[in-house]
Amino acid sequence: MAKLIDGKVISAAVKAEVAAETEELKKQGITPGLAVIIVGEDPASKVYVANKEKACQQMGFASFKYALPAETTQEELLELVKKLNEDPAVHGILCQLPLPRHLDEESVINTIVPEKDVDAFHPQNVGKIMIGNYDFLPCTPAGVMEMLKYENIDVNGKECVVIGRSNIVGKPMAMLLLHKNGTVTICHSRTKDLAEVCRRADILVAAVGRANFVTADMVKEGAVVIDVGINRLENGKLCGDVNFAEVEPKASYITPVPGGVGPMTIATLMKNTLTAAKKQNNL
Ligand code: GUN
Repeated sequence: MAKLIDGKVISAAVKAEVAAETEELKKQGITPGLAVIIVGEDPASKVYVANKEKACQQMGFASFKYALPAETTQEELLELVKKLNEDPAVHGILCQLPLPRHLDEESVINTIVPEKDVDAFHPQNVGKIMIGNYDFLPCTPAGVMEMLKYENIDVNGKECVVIGRSNIVGKPMAMLLLHKNGTVTICHSRTKDLAEVCRRADILVAAVGRANFVTADMVKEGAVVIDVGINRLENGKLCGDVNFAEVEPKASYITPVPGGVGPMTIATLMKNTLTAAKKQNNL
């Protein structure tokens, strides 16, 4: 039976540190501020944004929410980003993805000034992550690394397999594992014999976006299994990319969904916003 890696407990520990440091910062007259932009009515995005706002309140941050209609134009969105770039009360800017299809995500990301890019999506921040000298850690991958650290799971020399090559998770995840001396393989939809590659993994990270994608035959006995997926089933229930019931008996450690990686993403976002506030005040 696998040990459950509890994202709620670990994220609470990270957030407690952020809240304590924020209290000190506020004594110096600095309140970290996060602006969150959401465009349109995507139900999952609405939930994520609400959770981010709630976390800001818990941290004692100022949070600024911009819920824009689905018909918002590219110009209007970029105008808002530019205004937030200039606003000294806003230290972090996050535009919830995905955007409605008529909007260009890349130009929005490129318009956020790198110092306020708490998602670490801007090419300048992505480049810094690649080099290993970063200001902001990418939220979800950093959350996963925090979970491994908390459980004393050493990455050094391990076979790490990441399923998924997105800019948000797969690619930066691979990079953070590499920085910790993992031997990293990135799998994707064109990978030949995916199950065989996954079975090599000491640490398997699933970031595919497909419910129950990882089955028991893809997992080595004793592997650490990290499930980044958040999928909603037809019955309304949340489920990960890993078939938990099948895989759990084979794994040594496993993250649940919900209550696994999800809360860690938000905890890293809080950490990044605090870092941004400090840096912008030369601390
Ligand atoms: N959509 C899914 N995950 C994320 C994230 O971490 N940041 C943003 N901005 N959008 C997302």
